[in-house]
Amino acid sequence: MTGTHDAIILGAGAAGLMCAAVAGQRGRRVLLIDHNRTPGAKILISGGGRCNFTNIGAVPERYLSENPHFARSALSRYTPRDFLDLVERHGIAWHEKTLGQLFCDGSARQILAMLLDECAKGGVDLRGGVSVTAIDHADGLYRVEAGGAVARAPALVLATGGPSIPKMGATGFAHDVAKRFGLKLVQPRPALVPLTLSGGEALFTTLSGVASNVVARCGKAAFREAALFTHKGLSGPAILQISSYWRHGEGIAIDYAPDRPAGWLLDAKAASPRTSLKRLLAEDMPERLAATLATQIGLEGELGQTTDKALRAAAQRLKDWRFHPTGTEGYAKAEVTAGGIATAGLSSKTMEAQRVPGLFAIGEAVDVTGWLGGYNFQWAWASGWAAAQAL
Ligand code: FDA
Repeated sequence: MTGTHDAIILGAGAAGLMCAAVAGQRGRRVLLIDHNRTPGAKILISGGGRCNFTNIGAVPERYLSENPHFARSALSRYTPRDFLDLVERHGIAWHEKTLGQLFCDGSARQILAMLLDECAKGGVDLRGGVSVTAIDHADGLYRVEAGGAVARAPALVLATGGPSIPKMGATGFAHDVAKRFGLKLVQPRPALVPLTLSGGEALFTTLSGVASNVVARCGKAAFREAALFTHKGLSGPAILQISSYWRHGEGIAIDYAPDRPAGWLLDAKAASPRTSLKRLLAEDMPERLAATLATQIGLEGELGQTTDKALRAAAQRLKDWRFHPTGTEGYAKAEVTAGGIATAGLSSKTMEAQRVPGLFAIGEAVDVTGWLGGYNFQWAWASGWAAAQAL
């Protein structure tokens, strides 16, 4: 490991592996260091072991960042089609699941093997199980002390991701190093994470395991997918998506009846006056949830015995059921970290720090966070590829 390279990349996850492979194949001498013995740990567990490796709808509008335009350049120069071409060149079978999400037919291991193969083709010197003990910069070279050896290069790429899922070796290392070099951070926070409930809303936790198709809203963001009640609060894709937009103190709104037209309870009263709200709701959702909602609304009798005013109010409440989450389940359960290295200090074309020549940041470490469903890997591939063009 000792010696001079063209680039040292810290973090052999999705972004670091892509960046190393592309830079290596462009003729750069690349050293890639990870403190985990096995690279790409999150790739292996992603998508339930099948890796949702991209999304064909990966447009900049589906990413959160203080600068919503920052991701545009990288995403347009390395597209889902580009990654799919790579996957197909390696003979990996894939399928589209829902909402543009592409998965391996077989195993996420194939994606990691593909990236390692590409790194090998680029002659990348990959060192796993090595801890970085010191980094400094002098005379145009970055000096990295790791595993008892010293490496030097004119370029240093921060690709160690964010602190979500610490038990897998995730750290805030890239954020700390960036700060030391004078880059600013957008306050990191857990994202794509379950939300917690307490007080009067904790009664919903007794529905743990019950799921329903809803629209979840927070501010202008809205997601139509499944919500799942848990023993701590709310989860499921609709909630994970909305959690990235949610901030402490805010409420979220759930539409339990997204397909019911306005006035549907009045129509139901006219058509079947002896039916109940619970019975009607159970056509769209599990019975336990239907019963809880009817009880909470206080409308347990026959529709024919209920005033139109009460039915209108019930329909309105079901369309816009407010929850006030007390928090999230934190980094231990967060699929990604939102916030991170501020894009204001980086070039959107190369990911290089504007005021620190030779320092690059890519992947989840940067303040760019995708929706659930392959968007975060696409950002890792695209930002890694963009940096590799400049190394
Ligand atoms: P990533 O976390 O992949 O890699 C960082 C690397 O840096 C790791 O190898 C780590 O060991 C190393 N590192 C950390 N600190 C270090 C230090 N101090 N010194 C040296 N090395 C260090 N996304 C998606 O698009 N589709 C999906 O299916 C899923 N599924 C999914 C499931 C689960 C359970 C999680 C937790 C996450 C996902 N994601 C996902 C998100 C996706 O995994 C994530 O956004 C990318 O892996 C980010 O890629 P990076 O390379 O930036 O970080």
